[in-house]
Amino acid sequence: MTASAAKDIIARAVEVLKENDHGDYTVPTKGLYPFQWNWDSCLTALGLAHYDEARAWTEIETLFAHQWPDGMVPHIVFHVWNDGYFPGPEVWRTGRPTATSGITQPAVAGFAVRRLFDRARDRKLAAARARALLPRIDAWHRCFYENRDPKGEGLVAIVHPWESGRDNSIDWDEAFERVPTEGVEPYTRRDTLHADPAHRPTQAQYDRYLWLVQHFRGLGWDNARLHDASPFQIVDPGFNAILIRACADLADLAEALGETRIADANRARAVRGLAAMERLWSEAHGQYLCLDRITGKLVDSASVGGILAAFAAIPQARAAAIAATVERLAGKARHVVPSHDPGDPRFDAKRYWRGPVWLVVNYMVADGLLAAGHVEVARRITQSSLDLITESGFAEYYDPLTGEPLGGGRFTWTAAMVIEFLREM
Ligand code: DGY
Repeated sequence: MTASAAKDIIARAVEVLKENDHGDYTVPTKGLYPFQWNWDSCLTALGLAHYDEARAWTEIETLFAHQWPDGMVPHIVFHVWNDGYFPGPEVWRTGRPTATSGITQPAVAGFAVRRLFDRARDRKLAAARARALLPRIDAWHRCFYENRDPKGEGLVAIVHPWESGRDNSIDWDEAFERVPTEGVEPYTRRDTLHADPAHRPTQAQYDRYLWLVQHFRGLGWDNARLHDASPFQIVDPGFNAILIRACADLADLAEALGETRIADANRARAVRGLAAMERLWSEAHGQYLCLDRITGKLVDSASVGGILAAFAAIPQARAAAIAATVERLAGKARHVVPSHDPGDPRFDAKRYWRGPVWLVVNYMVADGLLAAGHVEVARRITQSSLDLITESGFAEYYDPLTGEPLGGGRFTWTAAMVIEFLREM
């Protein structure tokens, strides 16, 4: 790509970021997602820093201003009233001063804050803002291991598919059979007003998402009770890898800022988590798999969750096998990394997390593989991502076979990731 083409794409990406900017937080996209989402915001901050470092720090601070007293950071903060989204605050009823959801999302904040800090031009500002966030992010990490790893196995479970961010992944299909739908209050979906229903989760999945929300609401959103009471307890390798990476990054950052207690606690979490990840490895698939904590069995589903695990400092041999798996996928799909193996009959090129390519995932996989020395594969992922943007604009996700833009349009984190990819080219 020429320098002027890159400049033009960055200018268009900045336009998307500005258009979704509400002053101290961004929305993922207008219409479909009109509030602040947890991991969207943290990854978006990297893009904001490109033109306004102070604003980038604010993005993450706004999210953490709504952290729960037990350390949990909710997946949505409902800053404003908007009836274009379902389920809204009247369904969650979490009783927070500003309404929030009651579940969480992948813990990318530790990674994002470290990256903002490392790259900061304004060192003084970065040190002050990072220092204030350190104990908050540490409390979130602690909350995960306290509540989602009750037997101290070193890995945490999600209790709702929305927590993984990969809402309707094939990974959850079997476990979802255990989630009932009796007693789900009548509701009207809003997502299908903004995006093609064929690109979104099915009605049967929504019923189960809602059953879980009502079930947890009945437990008063008490994090100490949700895990054991949930019929859905999945140890997702991608989710854990993000948390492990965030712990390691937070440890480095805390060390740089002289906060040794936070550094030690997070280093220990990362070390234990990395060792425990071995339990999720599948030689047959050349990647990690989810573990269903209720059956105690690995889930036979080759999704991008097990590839995303490369984001953590996994053993060299595992990273090499994942790099080979991505190359194999590149032989089956025009654009990598598909969210599910196209060779699996359950693959669906257009439906949300059952096949499409997501640039945030590409960014984390490429980052991990690059750190492990797999430069060519990392470049291939980056190139695929840039091809998608050039051909299809700032979509929410893309068809890996045709490159068609899918889901919501003018997506904030897609724009942020493009700025990141162009830095690395
Ligand atoms: C949705 O509503 O689609 C979200 O992914 C849940 O956070």
